[in-house]
Amino acid sequence: MRITVNEIKEKKLKNERIAMLTAYDCSTAKIVDEAGVPLILVGDSLGMVLLGYESTIPVTMDEMIHHTKAVVRGTEKALIIGDMPFMTYHTSISDALRNAARFIQEGGAQAVKLEGGVVVAETVKRIVDCGIPVMGHIGLTPQSVHQLGGHRVQGKTPEAAERLLADARALEQAGTFAIVLELVPAPLSKLITQKASIPTIGIGAGPDCDGQVQVISDLLGLFADFVPKHAKQYAKLAGTIRTAIGDYIAEVKSGSFPTAEHSSTMDESLLEELARS
Ligand code: KIV
Repeated sequence: MRITVNEIKEKKLKNERIAMLTAYDCSTAKIVDEAGVPLILVGDSLGMVLLGYESTIPVTMDEMIHHTKAVVRGTEKALIIGDMPFMTYHTSISDALRNAARFIQEGGAQAVKLEGGVVVAETVKRIVDCGIPVMGHIGLTPQSVHQLGGHRVQGKTPEAAERLLADARALEQAGTFAIVLELVPAPLSKLITQKASIPTIGIGAGPDCDGQVQVISDLLGLFADFVPKHAKQYAKLAGTIRTAIGDYIAEVKSGSFPTAEHSSTMDESLLEELARS
């Protein structure tokens, strides 16, 4: 039985912090689920993390559905959130509804996430009215990276801070069950969190949000060359993987792998017969 959006909202009332993570494939999602993470985001960050795009902008609905299905197959308890890609919810409300529905119907997700505040509030409301839970995402919204001029902290001027407060209010009124705050100054996140009756989930938004989200590859240290300021490496798997592969190559070359332990035998007499023929 998966956790519900109501149970997620209750966590705020109970002052229980929420740990959310991204996942993009079945086997990783299974570990994340078994570890007890209640919210798994199939983020469009998969474009950069898995597919090698330079930004999240090229990610398509078909790619997102493909990975969402895999994550759903690997999990039993977590609520799975599908991240709506660039321009799949802006062209019209009916496009937004159709694409949100694909995540639920084809992908098997329980909720969707989309970026933006006041400008997407009407769209959010229509999706929620159709029975699809929506998570909001404000602050640094990576799909608008060209307009924002890079991956920088948002809400630092009085006008920008006011806009973020208005965005959070609009999303809450439109019916979102939680809001991601990305790269928002910690004191502003604290204020938004105090004012909101739904959970805020921070990434680079300080310690006072109701929950935190991290990109799984950052947390596991899969990219040794670049660690974003907002990320903490709880493991350094890139090094571990590199060492394991180096050991494998060395053992294949030396002939010490595979051994009898990794091989199977057959009837000796049959082999002798085969050799004679
Ligand atoms: O795509 C993603 O991974 C995200 C998180 C950073 C919130 O949107």
